[in-house]
Amino acid sequence: MLNINDIRKQFHVLDQQVYGKPLVYLDNAATTQKPLCVIERERDYYLHENCNIHRGVHYLSQKATEAYEHARQTVANFIHAKEAKEIIFTRGTTESLNLLATAFEHLISLDCFVPRNDAKRQTEMKVLVTAIEHHSNLVPWQQMVQRHQGQLLVVPMDDKGVLDIEQYEKMLKEGPKVVSIAHISNVLGTINPIKQMIAMAHQYDIPVVIDGAQSIAHHPIDVQDLDCDFFVFSGHKMYAPMGIGGLYGKAEWLEKLPPYQFGGEMVDTVSFEKTTFNVLPYKFEAGTPNVGAALGLETAIQFLQNLDRKAVEEHETQLLQSAIQQLSEIDDIRFIGEAEQRSGLVSFIIDGIHPYDLGTIIDKMGVAVRTGHHCAEPVMTHFDIPGTVRASFALYNTLEEVEIFTKAVKKAAMMLR
Ligand code: ALA
Repeated sequence: MLNINDIRKQFHVLDQQVYGKPLVYLDNAATTQKPLCVIERERDYYLHENCNIHRGVHYLSQKATEAYEHARQTVANFIHAKEAKEIIFTRGTTESLNLLATAFEHLISLDCFVPRNDAKRQTEMKVLVTAIEHHSNLVPWQQMVQRHQGQLLVVPMDDKGVLDIEQYEKMLKEGPKVVSIAHISNVLGTINPIKQMIAMAHQYDIPVVIDGAQSIAHHPIDVQDLDCDFFVFSGHKMYAPMGIGGLYGKAEWLEKLPPYQFGGEMVDTVSFEKTTFNVLPYKFEAGTPNVGAALGLETAIQFLQNLDRKAVEEHETQLLQSAIQQLSEIDDIRFIGEAEQRSGLVSFIIDGIHPYDLGTIIDKMGVAVRTGHHCAEPVMTHFDIPGTVRASFALYNTLEEVEIFTKAVKKAAMMLR
């Protein structure tokens, strides 16, 4: 059982009024709020421990280094990675995906270099993504393949927001070098059958990247059980500070990939003629990292680990079902994303009402939701809509808040008609 009242005591930001109304924060897919323990951990680091790491022989530096590496181990344990060196700290999902696209681009170019005007080249640089991707898991791969006259293969979805697995199988036979798929869509809430999709890609020896930005806060992740080659996520969507996130990669893959950024700490030896690189994970962590945020991420993980995660899943499912049921009472509502397997959020439009107008009016009633294309323009194109209103839930939300939200939507719809 979750004690939501106790949990909410950790989130002071929720305890405020906006425009004279109690704040109902339902924009958790954009970023979650941070519990006091996370804020205090980061503050304590700057108050008592701040130091550059891996560089000093002095006490503070060693203490900060130990704390940072402890945080790495905590992340590894949380997602059940085999070893801490398989965890690279990044700024978040976007940076993790850019790292992978760049590293794969170099690896593939080296492995299968053919002249630019050679038709064979076009068959080499192929990456497979899906129709539901966030721009972060689309644009880096798109730009990568376009630089080599390659091809982005896109698995289509149906009008419920479910991927076409038969097409996926066909596309795997076209020889993509990498498959990169969202675990959960940030617009539709669809939970993709990633375990099955990973196993299918592995039959063709294709590595699989999982974008876990929208899943890691809501569902337990076991990268060994999934058998994904990479798993990327953001701290700020899982109750941790902004500016920190992670990239898990199987050690054999991370060994194979070339570095992404160059500079301090990621090197072993440097001369004007030649540089050799550091071992994992440091090879991928150039420059001074965000130590304070990494420690905040560790505390956010401990915060989640201290909760009954099954109960968190059940609570969030209850919030979602209640929202869908109450919103269904509205005339001319159209849900965007109706997959059976879904999580954490509801997206919708109401005929004749622009999502932005609806969002603006319910904001004045104290309800924070996101409106627009949610950084997934191709999803909007598929449904032929300019955007949606999206309410996304976190473990501190309550059924009372869902009711305030749905009543606000009903009232705004009446005002706008
Ligand atoms: N990717 C975040 C969202 O879906 C910002 O809102």
